[in-house]
Amino acid sequence: MRGWMGKFRSLFLFGALTLILSGCGVDNLSALKPKGYGAELLLDLMIISIAIMIFVFVIVMAIYAFVLIRYKQKKGQENLIPKQTEGNKALEVIWTVIPIILLLVLAVPTVQATFDLADTSGQDDENAITIDVIGNQYWWHFNYAGQEIATSQELYIPTGERVYLNMKSSDVIHSFWLPSIAGKMDTNPGENINSMYLEAYEEGVYWGHCAELCGPSHSLMDFRVIAVSPDEFDQWVEDMKNVDPEATPETASAQEGQELFNNNCMSCHAIGGSSAGVGPNLTNFGNREKIAGIMDPSKENLVDWITNPDEIKPGNQMPANIVSKEEASKIADYLLQLKHSDVGTDVPTRNTDE
Ligand code: CUA
Repeated sequence: MRGWMGKFRSLFLFGALTLILSGCGVDNLSALKPKGYGAELLLDLMIISIAIMIFVFVIVMAIYAFVLIRYKQKKGQENLIPKQTEGNKALEVIWTVIPIILLLVLAVPTVQATFDLADTSGQDDENAITIDVIGNQYWWHFNYAGQEIATSQELYIPTGERVYLNMKSSDVIHSFWLPSIAGKMDTNPGENINSMYLEAYEEGVYWGHCAELCGPSHSLMDFRVIAVSPDEFDQWVEDMKNVDPEATPETASAQEGQELFNNNCMSCHAIGGSSAGVGPNLTNFGNREKIAGIMDPSKENLVDWITNPDEIKPGNQMPANIVSKEEASKIADYLLQLKHSDVGTDVPTRNTDE
């Protein structure tokens, strides 16, 4: 029995791994299910390289098996030394030329795609949508250039259009990664701006992650990209421009929350405008799919976050215990009613993870 188990142990191991790893492919987070131009280009490259690898593997294994069987030592020929050959022009040419052809098949589309994806010259067009992206420990800021509007954590873009991102970091190196729409690009501290573009094919909420180890909460540095139709996008921009940051909320609790927020939180956060402060811009907080990029948008979660953020995202810049739990509850009432636009609330893949 033990021998039998031993023989198949690696088979079981790989079988279990396959089962577990196949659960990693979440819709709207998978490079294998492209929903945008860049991701599609990258998947094509992956397919070409895997096809070449399989081709080489099969040929080499076939030759290996052939030699193993055909030239196996036979009974009564233990001392036989086969005819020794040195140098064979035809063979030398074949195994030099075939790899060169394979490398060319791989290199030409790779170089083409590299230049294609790096071509952000379209942002010079005056109608182009350009967004400044700033990576921070552990959140993302998105400033719509020339529009006087900004969001944090959740980026709104129109479908079917190239949206240009100019990226940098306020602290350490992060990496903006949106697998199902585009590739990934580092955000660097200092003056070095990296540019890329997004082009989403269909409406949806797409998941993004920071892909550069940036501190204890690196794995929690998520963001969302909400792709809506161009008309809806224009509507969203209008809605965001018309936000009155000082508007009085409806309920008494939210009104108290607004005052508490203004007195305690405004030195780091912003509501309205396009500023990137020490903390995220909270203009459309009530429309966010996640709190702090990772938690479901319930009041309970928000109160937990306000009172003890370090427990949820270790090493983040937000101080704990600035306000009491009761005060935090009122601030939560205020923040959760900051809904200035219906755009994007009905995209089909919203909240698919729940
Ligand atoms: Cu930011 Cu990892």
